[in-house]
Amino acid sequence: MSARQSQLVIVANRLPVARVKTKKGMEWKRSPGGLVSALTPFVQKTGGAWIGWTGTTGSAPDLFDFEDIKLVPVGITRGQLENFYDGFCNGTLWPLYHGAVREPEYHRSWWRPYVAVNKRYARMTAETAERGATVWVHDYHLQLVPALLREQRPDLHIGFFLHIPFPPEELFGRLPWRRQILEGLLGANVVGFQTPIGAHNFIRVCRRYTDAKSKAGTLELHGRKTQADAFPISVDVERYASAAESDIVTQRAQEIREQMGRGRRIILGVDRLDYTKGIDVRLRAFSELLSRRRQAIRDYVLVQLAVPSRERVDEYRELRSRVEELVGQINGEFGDVSHVPVHYLHRGLPFTELIALYRAADVMLVTPLADGMNLVAKEYVATRYDDTGVMILSEFAGAAQELKTALQVNPHDVDGLAETIEMALSLPQKEATRRMRKMREAIGNYTVFDWADSFVTALSH
Ligand code: ADP
Ligand code: G6P
Repeated sequence: MSARQSQLVIVANRLPVARVKTKKGMEWKRSPGGLVSALTPFVQKTGGAWIGWTGTTGSAPDLFDFEDIKLVPVGITRGQLENFYDGFCNGTLWPLYHGAVREPEYHRSWWRPYVAVNKRYARMTAETAERGATVWVHDYHLQLVPALLREQRPDLHIGFFLHIPFPPEELFGRLPWRRQILEGLLGANVVGFQTPIGAHNFIRVCRRYTDAKSKAGTLELHGRKTQADAFPISVDVERYASAAESDIVTQRAQEIREQMGRGRRIILGVDRLDYTKGIDVRLRAFSELLSRRRQAIRDYVLVQLAVPSRERVDEYRELRSRVEELVGQINGEFGDVSHVPVHYLHRGLPFTELIALYRAADVMLVTPLADGMNLVAKEYVATRYDDTGVMILSEFAGAAQELKTALQVNPHDVDGLAETIEMALSLPQKEATRRMRKMREAIGNYTVFDWADSFVTALSH
């Protein structure tokens, strides 16, 4: 074994940290998104290597250590950034897999770089994994890696986990490269999805578009078996719960409540600025609520955090304009010099500030149009150690399958959403406590460590 090799190798498009330009020069910052939030605590605990992109183009730095994880940076060119990442990953696969809430585009000039980047990841993984190692490949960017890697290293245990929804046949079937993608995934020993529906959709399309045969959740292609199953992801519950109880967070949450205005009810949204998150519909619902309850306008405030995301892609730029226009309209129509109905923050916040906001919020709004899981929903629940707070949750988030006592909504229904926000604000305390307690039980019994253990255990069989 060489010093560069590891027994556990995580392969994901992004490293847990990204290189960003700041006033002080180039710095490493935590990468955005749920994949990194979920995987980091697990890999820190077990140790291992993580192969991924640095978030910038050009040659990659040499490998380095970050909080007990060995990082193996992958460099991508400007052309690959445009055609692989912005193009095939975020212009074809992302909208297609999220129920085509935006029209996916299909370009051969995007597919070829997708294959090239996947080959590069497979080659680097083959060099990094020890003999007989466990390799865990993540998400839609790298669906060809399992089969490419298996060709080079048949000794490895290869797992793949998809963090986003796997679409039904009528959508997946549109993809011109559907067979290649499925055969890529079938190179893994285990392919995991967020929900049983995702696993079911996958098995169906494998039977339809490949020569694989299936029996009881196992697919067999060319004499090799792949298990397809649901492994719903979770959060490091203990970390969120103990941060929530800390003095610093308690004090900051109190300060936030006072700054917003004593007695005012705080409604919170926390998302990447992505069109799948339903932020615009949510703002329209809040506006509807304010126009119905003009006498109570000063009683409510909406805080919307929106982490910048994929800003080079047109749909994301358009979404940003629409969201900011809506925020301006609501504040212009319903605000006055001493009261702003919507506080909109277009940036990532430090961990303690985020937890303080979760603690300060009376109502959490999680209303994606489609979402693999949605970790924000689980994080909010993990911080409600005293069973306070109400969550409004989209039926179309994977989390809705487990958080059954959230107030569940159709995120496309502006009126229904406005009514549910009103209902949340007037929910009797006893009922709110009962609902939150059930949600806390659901996530307390299955943390991110249980998720990772169950996947790795399935892989070792
Ligand atoms: P996605 O992976 O699609 O971005 P998730 O809800 O699963 O959605 O994960 C988002 C992650 O990003 C969560 O861990 C959440 O805490 C974090 N996050 C979202 N908004 C912010 C913010 N403004 N500041 C810091 N972290 C944020
Ligand atoms: C989602 C995806 C991740 C991705 C993250 C952030 O969570 O499932 O794979 O890393 O969004 O998106 P980005 O494009 O910035 O990596």
